[in-house]
Amino acid sequence: MSGNATRPEPTGPAAVLCGLGGALPARAVSNDELAAQLDTSDAWIRSRTGIGQRHVIAPGQATSDLAVEAGARALASARDTAGPAAAEVDLLVLATSTPDRPCPATAPVVAQRLGLGTVPAFDVAAVCTGFVYALATAGSLIEAGVARRALVIGADTFSTILDPADRTTRALFGDGAGAVVLRAGTRDEPGALLGYDLGSDGQGVDLITVRAGGSRQRSEPGPPPEADRWFTMRGSSVFREAVLSMSDSARALAERTGWDPAGPDKLVAHQANVRILRAVGDQLGLDEKQIVVHLDRVGNTVAASIPLALTDAAGEGALQPGHRVLLTGFGGGLTWGSAALVWPDVVTGPPGTV
Ligand code: UT7
Repeated sequence: MSGNATRPEPTGPAAVLCGLGGALPARAVSNDELAAQLDTSDAWIRSRTGIGQRHVIAPGQATSDLAVEAGARALASARDTAGPAAAEVDLLVLATSTPDRPCPATAPVVAQRLGLGTVPAFDVAAVCTGFVYALATAGSLIEAGVARRALVIGADTFSTILDPADRTTRALFGDGAGAVVLRAGTRDEPGALLGYDLGSDGQGVDLITVRAGGSRQRSEPGPPPEADRWFTMRGSSVFREAVLSMSDSARALAERTGWDPAGPDKLVAHQANVRILRAVGDQLGLDEKQIVVHLDRVGNTVAASIPLALTDAAGEGALQPGHRVLLTGFGGGLTWGSAALVWPDVVTGPPGTV
């Protein structure tokens, strides 16, 4: 499947990445700690997923706490990279599928806590594709002249929706937040978003889902079955769809950008499973050095996964100014999406701890 929401050749401003940062909860949960509670093992989790540990929020913490820390770090990074004006954002887009409350959106309270005044702020829900959707939304609003500078955050706390007894999901997911700052600039600058590819297929609604808590269940009489309160995923079907969708979308966007699909210096794909990353790499003809891997330390952080991987790779020097970078994600909905940019010279630090 290839995406069908594409960007026409731009004539006005481009959206240019000029800051990034991340946040993780203080508590890291090792595979051995999970294996002490569930019928699993470090060997199974590492060999089937590549994950070594994940971070989990403390009681009382919520998605906005991580989003505020990641957002503050991205704004500081933008200030250090492009001067004080770069942090004066006039738009906040927050990708999350674990909002603080079902209503209202979480973005306005994040904007208020970051001292952003009365800027427009809204949530985007596309599960693990959320960050790419939010990036394309904010980027397009800058390209249209509606905003000048935008803070784009991906933040999720899936530990709050996982069945404590489910080894198949608890081994995979971790909490976290990642953020970038976009500013208006020109398409020939490093950091300019060169194109997007977005798509969805609602036939896959049941593959990745929380059945209860929405209008469908709440309009029914009686409380929902206990199992419907928790997140469920059909792992092996999702695995196949993730490989196909991310490789099709990344290839389509690379070709539209005028890049050889095997040519990007770095592929920063949604961090769900190292075997998925390798399979997408095989489909595109990439070698291991071209593929950013961050999930070993944080697991699948859903909407935070791509910006956290970018922050880590930039901080460690794996992403260098001038690198051609393809971002690609896949998640519930089903949804998928990609974005392309040439990596800018951006100052960033390690994720903050919340
Ligand atoms: O973020 C959105 C995108 N998400 C993804 O892309 C996730 C995609 N799916 C996957 O990464 C993989 O399918 C999983 C990691 C979820 C599962 O790996 P798999 O190699 O596809 O295993 P499987 O689902 O075919 O299960 C094989 C066995 C099953 O046992 P039986 O039925 O064969 O007895 C599972 O119950 O592995 C079992 N299993 C586990 N065993 C030990 C599943 N999870 C675990 C576990 N520890 N944590």
